[in-house]
Formats: sequence, structure tokens, C-alpha cells
Amino acid sequence: MSKGEFISLLGILGLAARFVNGQLEPDCNPLHADCPTKNAWPEDNYYIDFTKETGPPENWIIANNEVVKFTAQGAEFTYGKRGDAPNMWTDFYMLGGRYDAVMQIAPGQGIISNAILSSDIQDEIDWEFSGNQHGEKPFPPPDGKWTVGTNIYSQGQMWDGAATYQKDAYKPTTQFHTYSVEWDENHMNWYVDNQVVRSVQASSIPAGSIFPQSPMKLQLGVWAGGDPANNYWTIQWAGGEIDMKGAPYTMVVRSVNITNKYPAENSR
Ligand SMILES: *[C@@H]1O[C@H](CO)[C@@H](O)[C@H](O)[C@H]1NC(C)=O
Repeated sequence: MSKGEFISLLGILGLAARFVNGQLEPDCNPLHADCPTKNAWPEDNYYIDFTKETGPPENWIIANNEVVKFTAQGAEFTYGKRGDAPNMWTDFYMLGGRYDAVMQIAPGQGIISNAILSSDIQDEIDWEFSGNQHGEKPFPPPDGKWTVGTNIYSQGQMWDGAATYQKDAYKPTTQFHTYSVEWDENHMNWYVDNQVVRSVQASSIPAGSIFPQSPMKLQLGVWAGGDPANNYWTIQWAGGEIDMKGAPYTMVVRSVNITNKYPAENSR
């Protein structure tokens, strides 16, 4: 398989995987129902240093029955046993702007770490990281070139895909890096350590797609793409069945900085 084919497969299978795990489902979709109003962030900035927190911080919602630990390292999302899917999201929404998340992704075959902007009408701008580089061989990539999922959804419909990032000694499972998404009515950019790895202009999106334009919350988490109950292609996409030998597998997020382009009072 060529790198190009591999990358387009990533996009397609990413979609299947996420539906399997139900992560795309908002609790209420205002396109199809009357939903309760949500909090739009009224400020132009929100910053949190998770290394200073000792328990679940204000403004974050932890998924039911899941555990996120707050230690001197930051917010820790651990896959330690079958069924774990630790994740949390902001209780407020941003409209345009940028976020920077300083994080170290979880290692492990079949383990997916993610940072996702998602809206109640199923717009999404994703980062998805595989703990074993989606099973590509050799692993770790000797050229330091990692493939990073950067899917986009508008109203639940995906257009792909992936970006690659290369830097001397880039080791996302053992080093902290800054992952950012910048998004407004004109463009989306994904950055690793402030270098653009993918850029999409609103003026050149695929025919039939809608540029994401609804308020987004930020969701961070780890899930088991390689759970043996998932379908075959999801498991392949995730790099293979979970290998418990190296468990627990932990993603650590040190800090999040959100710049909100259109704070609530000033929104259009
Ligand atoms: C957050 O991001 C903004 C915009 O880039 C920057 O001005 C600010 O210094 C950052 N805050 C922290 C604490 O890093």
C-alpha cells in the first residue's frame, strides 16, 4: 500500500470507527429537535494548566463512568482494561478561533488518542493519533514521520483525511508537543508545534460539503479502536487488536489554551 492509499483509508475507516464507538452522537441535535440552550464562552480566552489541578476542574465534563486523573503531569487519560474510554469535554462552546493543547499521546497497539472540536449539529474538526502509527511497519517510523488523522465532519458527513508530520526525533508517545487547530469562517489550520501540517480554505471544500460553522466544544480522550468487538476494518485502522502487554496506556494533556474569535456577547 502506498502512503497515499494508506492515508485515504485512514479517512474512510476513521469514520466507521467513530460511529462504532458512538463518539459523534451529540446528546441533542438542534437540526432535528428542540434542544436546551448551551453555554457559549463569553471571553476571548480560556486557559487551563491541568498540572495545577487535583480533581476534575470547573468547565469540564468527564464522561459517565470514566476516570480522568489530575496529577503533576497533567490530565491523565488511561486505558487500563477492556471497556475503558476516558474522555472529557468543555461545558462551553467556542465560535471560531484556535486552541492549543500540550499533550503526549497514548502508546499502544489499537489505542487512539484524540482532541476533537465538535458541535451539536455534528460538525467536527479532529486530531486522531494512533499509538502504533496505525500498524505501519517499521514502528516507530525511522524517519520520524507520523501520520496524524485530521478528519472534518460537517453535519455528520465526513470529508477526509490525514496529515503527516515530520521532525527530527518526533516521538508523540514519549514527548509533549503542542497540537493546535485554528478555525474561522474562512479556513482551518492544524498545527504541530506551531507548524502548519494541514490547511483547508472555505473557498475550496469538496462539492456538496458545508464548511463547519457551528459553535464547538473541545473533547479530549482515549478509546480502544482495536477492541476485539469492533469490526475488522476498524481494528485494522487502529493498528491492530489491543495488546494488553504494554498496558496501561496513558495520554497526558498538560494544558489547553482556547482563543475564542467570537465571544458570546459579540457573536453574529
Ligand atoms: C493563549 O493563546 C493566546 C493567543 O495565541 C496567547 O496570547 C496567550 O499568551 C496564550 N496563553 C497562555 C497562558 O499561554
